[in-house]
Amino acid sequence: IRVAVIFGGRSSEHEISCVTAGSVMSAIDTDRYDILPIGITRDGDWRLVTADPSELAIVDGKLPAVPDSGARLALALDTPGAFLEVAPDSLPRLVGQVDVVLPLLHGPFGEDGTIQGLLELAGVRYVGAGVFASAASMDKVFMKALLTAQGLKTGPYLAVSDRAWTRHRKRVLDNIAALGGVVFVKPARAGSSIGISRVPDATDTAAVTEAIEAARAHDPKVIVEAGIQGREIECGVLESLDGGEPDVSLPAEIHVAEGYDFYDFEAKYLSNSGLSIPADLPDEVTQRVRKLAAEAFDALGCEGLARVDFFYGDDGEIYINEINTMPGFTPASAFPQMWAASGLDYPALVDRLIRTALV
Ligand code: DAL
Ligand code: MG
Repeated sequence: IRVAVIFGGRSSEHEISCVTAGSVMSAIDTDRYDILPIGITRDGDWRLVTADPSELAIVDGKLPAVPDSGARLALALDTPGAFLEVAPDSLPRLVGQVDVVLPLLHGPFGEDGTIQGLLELAGVRYVGAGVFASAASMDKVFMKALLTAQGLKTGPYLAVSDRAWTRHRKRVLDNIAALGGVVFVKPARAGSSIGISRVPDATDTAAVTEAIEAARAHDPKVIVEAGIQGREIECGVLESLDGGEPDVSLPAEIHVAEGYDFYDFEAKYLSNSGLSIPADLPDEVTQRVRKLAAEAFDALGCEGLARVDFFYGDDGEIYINEINTMPGFTPASAFPQMWAASGLDYPALVDRLIRTALV
């Protein structure tokens, strides 16, 4: 089976996508799968990547990127799964025709329905959520609206559109102040905690303004979420192979390394933050979390895989924080570790994802 692994991309999570792809390509069963590694540079060029997958890793705190070298590629739209080499002074040449695409891209232009739309147009199968579920899950405002519309509990939040911020700033700041307490200010469509600030006091308008501007550097649409006192729990979800209920992994609990206010980019990937798997929770809570993970997956219409992130509040409530349709597969990432603890090791997990896409 021939698989195109596409990674990197134009989003701020370019580097993390490279680490994800490096891990997946190192673990994939090459007796079964023939891989065509395609990197998208930060500028959006598609390139054939010849580097050893082990080079796509975080080494001494340095993050990898897709090199600007390598043959330039394009996806043919008239022959499903055909990738062409395109050079300025020669005719396009077929470099590979694949059965399935593994779009290991995080963030905008990858996890948000855009590449899914391209793959639909090209008529090639791909792993993971489709156009709508990807787009809705990437946008934290629409994601929460869809979850709450189906009776699933999220914490209080406010959307801050570009227009509201430019024209009605005072009203926006008043509404945020009314959330009270700690707030998290986030780009609505990003990941890996990039552009997120924790503001200890929602009524501190100077700090809130600074946090909104920091988020707006990544996305003109911002979400402000009330901080929830409690523990951070995650669950992996996989689409069933036989059309039944989705499968849900054992939950993980995140333990943010000392010295970090929250699970930010550095705490996620560059510190010794840890996970306990399975999370040490009362059985009844574990069952509720797993059930909610499957419900969130269905609420957004996800396919293939997702990771659902929760807060188990000190008030005893379980809040869904978000759903990620292409969760990280880095060595520090919870998704593959939760599945390994649930009986699906890394090669079996990748195998399962590819098989689900081919059904
Ligand atoms: N957005 C990152 C990759 C994650 O959810 O794991
Ligand atoms: Mg996320």
